[in-house]
Amino acid sequence: MSLVDDILQLKKEKNAVILAHYYQQPEIQEIADYVGDSLGLSQKAAETDADLIVFAGVHFMAETAKILNPSKKVVLPDLNAGCSLADSCPPKAFSEFINAHPHHVVITYINCSAEIKAMSDIVCTSSNALKIVNSIPKEVPIIFAPDKNLGKYIQKEAGRELVLWDGSCIVHEAFSIEKLLSLYKEHPGAKIIAHPESETHILDTATYIGSTAGMINYVKEHPSEKFIVATEAGILHKMQQEVPNAVLIPAPAEEDNTCACSECAFMKLNTLQKLYDCLLHETPQIEVPEEVRKRALLPIERMLALSK
Ligand code: 13P
Ligand code: SF4
Repeated sequence: MSLVDDILQLKKEKNAVILAHYYQQPEIQEIADYVGDSLGLSQKAAETDADLIVFAGVHFMAETAKILNPSKKVVLPDLNAGCSLADSCPPKAFSEFINAHPHHVVITYINCSAEIKAMSDIVCTSSNALKIVNSIPKEVPIIFAPDKNLGKYIQKEAGRELVLWDGSCIVHEAFSIEKLLSLYKEHPGAKIIAHPESETHILDTATYIGSTAGMINYVKEHPSEKFIVATEAGILHKMQQEVPNAVLIPAPAEEDNTCACSECAFMKLNTLQKLYDCLLHETPQIEVPEEVRKRALLPIERMLALSK
């Protein structure tokens, strides 16, 4: 039997569910029960009645699943699958930042650790950040962390100042505006679509800005056009399946003269073999101390309630 068959059989025997992010390798996306963005994955993790959640994504995503559904075992194929954005916001420094800005509502992007979520009033993802910010009365000051690029974008869209934490995603900050503009010259009819973790000068060129799921939905509305896609290249797999007639061109990264695309090294640590191993041995498991979990749950639940 092939590795794929082994995984599918084991999944059935163990009543497991495989949740995968759009940045995972194509073969992982192909065997997943659900592929989605951070919001969709959280919603699926919260509602699943599987006994074991195999999270093909990065650590903060698996941790969010455990916070939402603590009675389930949650495993991550590679425990080193972290996130530069989550790492850019250490708990001690963030606690001091909050103390330096009293009376602020604390909104955190889901790409952060459980400890950071536990210090927050409400969590958001790239697909609901504007809605979450707009749910707070205009006169109430807001801390927005950890992604400064998403924060700057929301600041502009919401028309209000946010106190921003200085964090960012290495993948989305790697896009080169010079290379993007020269690529656009070669494809003048193409639409540039971008993830809001990208820098402002990249976002300024885009006709659509949104989460990974939002970008796929946008492309589906224009199935025969040409797109330059400014986000992690893993998204191209599902996107092309959804719009087989569209031309999809990955946005070029600064340092990249080979594949002309950006890849998240953390996301790509997960492999089919590691997925099989973690399903078989039910390890590495994600654990969150109960006291942290309880405090982190409330801001995530607030987000889910506002995202229905
Ligand atoms: P979304 O899939 O929620 O847009 O998030 C993108 C991302 O960078 C996840 O790490
Ligand atoms: Fe983190 Fe960026 Fe990788 Fe997403 S793409 S997991 S934000 S480093």
